[in-house]
Amino acid sequence: MDIVSQNFAKDLQSQIQEKFDCIFLLLDSNTEKYCLPKILQNAPYLADCQQIIISDGEENKTLQTIEQIWNFLSTNGATRQSLLLNIGGGMVCDLGGFAAATFKRGINFINIPTTLLAAVDAATGGKTGFNFLGLKNEIGVFAQPQAVIINTSLFSTLNSRNLYSGFAEMLKYGYINSENLLNETFKFINTNAVLLSHCGLDQQSQKYKNEIAGQACNDRDRTFVNLIRKNLEIKQYFLEIDHFDKKERKALNFGHTFGHSFEAFSHQTDCPILHGEAVAWGMVCELFLSHILLNFNKIEVVKLYSFVKENYPKPAFCCNDLEQIYELMQHDKKNSANRINFTLLSEIGSVKINQTATKEQIFECLEFLC
Ligand SMILES: NC(=O)c1ccc[n+]([C@@H]2O[C@H](COP(=O)([O-])OP(=O)(O)OC[C@H]3O[C@@H](n4cnc5c(N)ncnc54)[C@H](O)[C@@H]3O)[C@@H](O)[C@H]2O)c1
Ligand SMILES: [Zn+2]
Repeated sequence: MDIVSQNFAKDLQSQIQEKFDCIFLLLDSNTEKYCLPKILQNAPYLADCQQIIISDGEENKTLQTIEQIWNFLSTNGATRQSLLLNIGGGMVCDLGGFAAATFKRGINFINIPTTLLAAVDAATGGKTGFNFLGLKNEIGVFAQPQAVIINTSLFSTLNSRNLYSGFAEMLKYGYINSENLLNETFKFINTNAVLLSHCGLDQQSQKYKNEIAGQACNDRDRTFVNLIRKNLEIKQYFLEIDHFDKKERKALNFGHTFGHSFEAFSHQTDCPILHGEAVAWGMVCELFLSHILLNFNKIEVVKLYSFVKENYPKPAFCCNDLEQIYELMQHDKKNSANRINFTLLSEIGSVKINQTATKEQIFECLEFLC
């Protein structure tokens, strides 16, 4: 159940009630600092819960961190009737979901996404896991959170890079859904990105209180919430028809075959990029591949390329690294029988899953990034 919350305290309380013997809060170092105070202000009954604080950053999305969570739960009295409340971005939700799904064969967990990316993507859908041997989300399980409670006011402390990382996933929904949604999303980003990033809630505490009490402050907030709702409806549609990602749900992987390889490659360098940043460049490459293979409109490829070039750091690789990127793409979970599978578009909103390409075509897409 996903709730784009208009009344955070009430929505959370209705999910918790009294059925759990113990509630554990999972946070990373940033969400402890920026989000926990806001959450406790609205849900003071969580103040006595035990807190598990993990180090932030994708480099900590590891088995060691999972062990840290299991260890804490095990030595601090967690039982099958306990609840894990994951308060964080995609990293916390993925790790917390996995730790909860496997601890004592599974305890309940609720995700409270604190990044835009987690709200529109990572926190919902039931994919949990961690990185292994340098490969993204190599180990994981499908496990549904009891609920996902989203409150956009938590995003106001995000820096611009993390905000744009979330915008990339929102644009993905536009590309796979319709020209209408895509244009609305571009319009929203172009008019509001500066206002949304770091709008400094500490200095605007009254505004924050209003928002968290559910009074949509202005048109901007309403449009933002509506776009997030629309994104989640699209995700929900695919989850219902193909929960385990065998067929239709692969539409949601648009931009991710190239994207995951860029992300994994960047984590082996001194310039790691964020998930959404990798997906933004992944979408550019996959639109270009769509143009080569499915005659997708070149003007739209150029439009996205210009936007992404303007707003996202380029994955730092050179032409000598292409074999390594290609090698990483061969590990993608969407592949089957030695072929690299892509989700491509013949037009905006017309998704073609299980598309494949030759190594030369893949290199052609990569070469214009080096
Ligand atoms: N399970 C899925 O379906 C799915 C889908 C997409 C992405 N993911 C995963 O999600 C992860 C990326 O998620 P993410 O972009 O949220 O990254 P993240 O969780 O690493 O968060 C990004 C950074 O922002 C900080 N942060 C979080 N909330 C904040 C706030 N409100 N204010 C200030 N700082 C804040 C974090 O501490 C971190 O440093 C990747 O590991 C990716 O693989 C999973
Ligand atoms: Zn993604």
